[in-house]
Amino acid sequence: MIATEKIMIEKTKNSRLGEVDFNHLPFGSIMSDHMLVSDYIDGEWGSSSIIPFGNIAMSPTMLALHYGQIVFEGMKAFKMKDGSISIFRVEKHYDRFCKSMERMCIPAMSFDHFNEALKTLIKLDAAWVPGTEGSSLYIRPFVFASEERFGVKVAEEYKFIIFSGPVGPYYSNPLKVKVEDKYRRAARGGTGSAKCAGNYGGAFYPSSLARKEGFDQVLWTDGSADLNIEESGTMNVMFMINDVFVTPPLSDSILDGVTRDSFITIAKDMGIKIEERKIGAPELISAHEKGILQEAFGTGTAAVVAPIQVINIKGKDYTLPTVKDSNVALKIKQRLLDIRLGNAPDKNNWNTIIKP
Ligand code: COI
Repeated sequence: MIATEKIMIEKTKNSRLGEVDFNHLPFGSIMSDHMLVSDYIDGEWGSSSIIPFGNIAMSPTMLALHYGQIVFEGMKAFKMKDGSISIFRVEKHYDRFCKSMERMCIPAMSFDHFNEALKTLIKLDAAWVPGTEGSSLYIRPFVFASEERFGVKVAEEYKFIIFSGPVGPYYSNPLKVKVEDKYRRAARGGTGSAKCAGNYGGAFYPSSLARKEGFDQVLWTDGSADLNIEESGTMNVMFMINDVFVTPPLSDSILDGVTRDSFITIAKDMGIKIEERKIGAPELISAHEKGILQEAFGTGTAAVVAPIQVINIKGKDYTLPTVKDSNVALKIKQRLLDIRLGNAPDKNNWNTIIKP
């Protein structure tokens, strides 16, 4: 063990780095060598340890397994042109993590605890950050109720873990999506704006039904008569109508996407008009009929920008103009990448730079 100021580090003796084909990276199945762990016990977060990535022991009564107190983040790190590593929007991810934890009654963690843990881990596994086009290091901080007890209660013990893994592109083709008019992802007053595990588990069933019908994803709605659109699969969603980007406004049923926020900031900077307002199925149909529904796409950390080619509403397909490199969404995606890689100025201080 090596002790940094606060974090104990046990380095792996068997690095798996040499086994990875960085030119063919799948999403979500390759893990870097190390992970960081810290525990909340006796009313406080204890110091963190970095250990070789591996299984953790748990009791079958661990409260998270029964009552779902689990929240997570999805973040990314990039290899910059000078070889440094940039971690994208640490503060914004931390803020959302805190909000999710509060909604799920999980005790708060200081920014220093989160940030030092993240930076120390990523520096140690810097060689895992891919430099190949379209790839990045996906970082998964998460926290769960680790107390051993099956009585229903807010847990008094928690475990915080961060691991990472190199990933390639999430989607390779434009999507065919269906406006979901039976199932809902989130309700007003519910947990939709928290990044809690249950939101994803609950979405699996409707998504798998849609996949059987030939769709890649569903467009979630608020369940009203107008089928106001909320999100797309695990992403936020935007439409370009008559040269204006329209995206549903944040609410307690919509996740405050970091990519969504970055996208809006860049679009405004590029002089593109953005409206954050309700947009329902009737408006999408009418815009399509008038020929002014120019682009639709999801935004998320994993997918970054995922163009939508076909929207199915009540059984009818509405096909959008063929996705081309000249799409405004793809230009914004490129600007975002340029900022992350150090090819464009980081005017908003989004990058946390790590020198390996
Ligand atoms: C992300 O976009 O990072 C997500 O968290 C969605 C998914 C990979 C769970």
